Amino acid sequence: MDFGWTFHLGNEWGIGQNMAKAGTGYGPAGETFPDASWRRVDLPHDWAVELPFDSTADCAHGFKALGAGFPQNNVGWYRRTFELQPGIPGRRIWLEFDGIYRDAMVYVNGWCVGHHEGGYDSFRYDVTDVIHDGGRNVVAVRVDASQFEGWFYEGAGIYRHVWLVQTAPLAIAPDGVFVSSRFKGNVPDGHPEIHIETRLRNAGDQPADARVRWEVRAPDGSTVATTGKDARVDPAGELDLEQTTTFESPALWSPEHPNLYTLVTTVASEGRIVDRIETEFGIRTVGFDPDKGFILNGSPYVIRGTCNHQDHAGVGSALPDRLQYYRVALLKEMGCNAYRTAHNPPAPELLEACDRLGLLVMDENRLLGSDARGLERWAGQIRRDRNHPSVAIWSLANEEFSVQTTPEGRRVAASMQALVKRLDPTRPVTYNAPLGNEFSGINGVIEVRGWSYHIGPENMDAYHAAHPRQPNVGSEQGSTVGTRGIYADDPVRGYVRAYDDNAQSWSNTAEQWLSFFEPRPWLSGGFVWTGFDYRGEPTPYGWPCVNSHFGILDTCGFPKDNFWYYKSWWTREPVLHLLPHWNWSGSEGRNIDVRALSNCEEVELLLNGKSLGRQAMRRDSELKWSVAYAPGTLSARGFIGGKVVAETSVETTGAPAAVRLAPDRTIVDADGQDCSIVTVSVVDDGGRVVPLAGNRIAFTIEGAGRIAGMGNGDPSSHEADVSVGVPSIRTMPVDGWRWTKVADTYRANLPEESAAYDDSGWMPADASADSGPLGPMGRGVFRTRFTVSPEDMNAPGIELWFGKISGDGSVYLNGRRIGAGGDPSSASGYDVKALLHPGENTVAVALTTWGANGGLNRGVQLRYIGPPRPASWTRSVFNGLAQVIVRSGRQRGPIRLTASSPGLSSAEVMLHARQPAQP
Ligand code: GAL
Repeated sequence: MDFGWTFHLGNEWGIGQNMAKAGTGYGPAGETFPDASWRRVDLPHDWAVELPFDSTADCAHGFKALGAGFPQNNVGWYRRTFELQPGIPGRRIWLEFDGIYRDAMVYVNGWCVGHHEGGYDSFRYDVTDVIHDGGRNVVAVRVDASQFEGWFYEGAGIYRHVWLVQTAPLAIAPDGVFVSSRFKGNVPDGHPEIHIETRLRNAGDQPADARVRWEVRAPDGSTVATTGKDARVDPAGELDLEQTTTFESPALWSPEHPNLYTLVTTVASEGRIVDRIETEFGIRTVGFDPDKGFILNGSPYVIRGTCNHQDHAGVGSALPDRLQYYRVALLKEMGCNAYRTAHNPPAPELLEACDRLGLLVMDENRLLGSDARGLERWAGQIRRDRNHPSVAIWSLANEEFSVQTTPEGRRVAASMQALVKRLDPTRPVTYNAPLGNEFSGINGVIEVRGWSYHIGPENMDAYHAAHPRQPNVGSEQGSTVGTRGIYADDPVRGYVRAYDDNAQSWSNTAEQWLSFFEPRPWLSGGFVWTGFDYRGEPTPYGWPCVNSHFGILDTCGFPKDNFWYYKSWWTREPVLHLLPHWNWSGSEGRNIDVRALSNCEEVELLLNGKSLGRQAMRRDSELKWSVAYAPGTLSARGFIGGKVVAETSVETTGAPAAVRLAPDRTIVDADGQDCSIVTVSVVDDGGRVVPLAGNRIAFTIEGAGRIAGMGNGDPSSHEADVSVGVPSIRTMPVDGWRWTKVADTYRANLPEESAAYDDSGWMPADASADSGPLGPMGRGVFRTRFTVSPEDMNAPGIELWFGKISGDGSVYLNGRRIGAGGDPSSASGYDVKALLHPGENTVAVALTTWGANGGLNRGVQLRYIGPPRPASWTRSVFNGLAQVIVRSGRQRGPIRLTASSPGLSSAEVMLHARQPAQP
């Protein structure tokens, strides 16, 4: 259900629900509402990314004009129509939302089918009863993003996938499959016990016989185990089945070898297959040991993780699936083996990427709470995510300062932890505690002590000595700040130098935390704050800075220098990286702080071929030289066992000469979702990226794709990430109204409503006034005529809008009823294109008022909706680089992206959208 939505930003219609009467959503919630003038959007969509920056907006959320003070930007409406072919008798139809930020009212055909507040969790509604079976249906979603749930950028809108799901009356319940592998002693030795739980649901009114069959398929597709059970499910009932099976020589899952098995669950009834679900899972064990730390598949395993928020350059929170894979692959390239979903339930596709590419996941809840709704959300998250082999640890919450040491906090955490153990006994539980040697409250009850900063013997060693049986994990460490390509602090522009020197008061440099953890295996390793920069929390500065600087990579995923620090100590391959860049024109002779990031035993530095000395590297450290600047080539050689194993250099470049475009993939699937992530660089005439370049580039795109967003990693950039092509609208007033009293406006076929009725003797009515001529219990019909030219009829959409219809009644066009009067507090609109004809048209409104001053008020107009104005895409490079995310359409064919900038040679790249492979 991701394609073909319309979107409108604004709160003109309130909640759109008539609380007094069922099935009477008004405004956009109603079935007949005209939305031709709304923007067309495909999901995922985040409207916060489209908003301007505003220095008065919330700093922690990245200064987007959203939240308190911006009521006009806080509510958005989405609508989509779909046809439903008649289906099997008794089928159930579900609408599933993977995540909406936030507070969503969902309407189907004018019925309110649900209200969901949480901005990060998935939810679904059974909408069977209100569906037009075999007809056209309208889904409307009102999203209210005015409240924040966190202290970081959170986006706004339907930013994850939406699904329409059809099941037979007897089916596997939503999230009703749980498969896990268990071994004796939690060590994968011998046969795994494949433990399968299946929940069946019978929505029918008769008992249903179910034959359930489970088949386990190995990574190569071969069947390795089959088993089954027969059961009877009560009418309107649920039944839980448990089954175990086993097979020989399993291929274990780990970040290094992400082997995936598939459980195929099939349910048959009365000789027919009624449901079938494939569930990917992995065979592996996880656990913690108080002395050895984290244990994967029976052996100690050092966690080399990063914490991440969910937004990316260009697209905000609305990441196409491909970007999840892109980001996971970048982290893996650095040697990262784990991901903490800070501080909220993740997108399902992020977990899928971690399963398939291989990252362990700490799956985090948003808000600590054991109230009914909190536990329901937490249970939903566990049920949804517990089949993913990547998910290794549940995290109850993050840094709950006010309650974490209280008895209440302890009890709430205990309840949440107990819920995990009931729903998923296979995984440990932690909480990210910003505390030192403190055991009261949550720490006293949590299974694994999570450490948010607080390195040092007085904290970690003392705590471990006092509580030697409790395992530990560095759930949040680091928090070094640095801006990509910047080597001197610039508080005015909001940049921080990218040397690993800038920890905050509460945090540590990469070297400090890593070297403290290294000799302490019982700490299990940890998760750096953060892998990627994110919008909001622009520490240590404020406006004009709008993004964080904590990332090892920037918001686009371009590495900062610390990437090579971590890669040095998190991988075994020889790494050698030099910083800073070597473009210091005007600073000839001045000493420059040069550093080598490497895991080689020794590194020699050379300037223009002349050695500046060879230094030995200490583990978890870096090497420093002070070098008098002279343009040319700064190079380095890395030695292991006396042999050169790595070489690198940085060169002084010339002036910007050309734009370059480098897509990560030239072939994309024509599924409307796939992406190519294009790196834009400004190079000199030798093809070298100019490290100080900031040229503004204009992009065009043609063919079977479009630009989803742009970014450049500049934490202080206020340039637009997206360019929005809004439909053009031409309006024409509809005047000349007359009215008359009638006895009963509810009577069918009132002659006064017909097209040809002679109203010449009626009284004139002023439809532009604030109140109308009808008194209490007044009944009347209002009429007028207007002319539409043949050219007008060519407009893609034509709508009739009433500023306010005060009274209860119906609207007729050329004698045909086009809808009810709508909500008297806001505008009412009707899609009229199909009913208009060139020449004279008649409109009539029959009204009964219960209060005073009824009538047609605040003007009436026709709106001719034109095609969207073309989007225009421009973005500067930041320190030589920018990123354009190209998303495929659903047509096959070539995609041509061009980039140009005054004074630079232009670039063009051809991509191709191909027929997606069949799953
Ligand atoms: C932590 C917090 C994170 C982020 C970080 C910045 O205390 O958990 O969400 O704010 O500080 O260093």
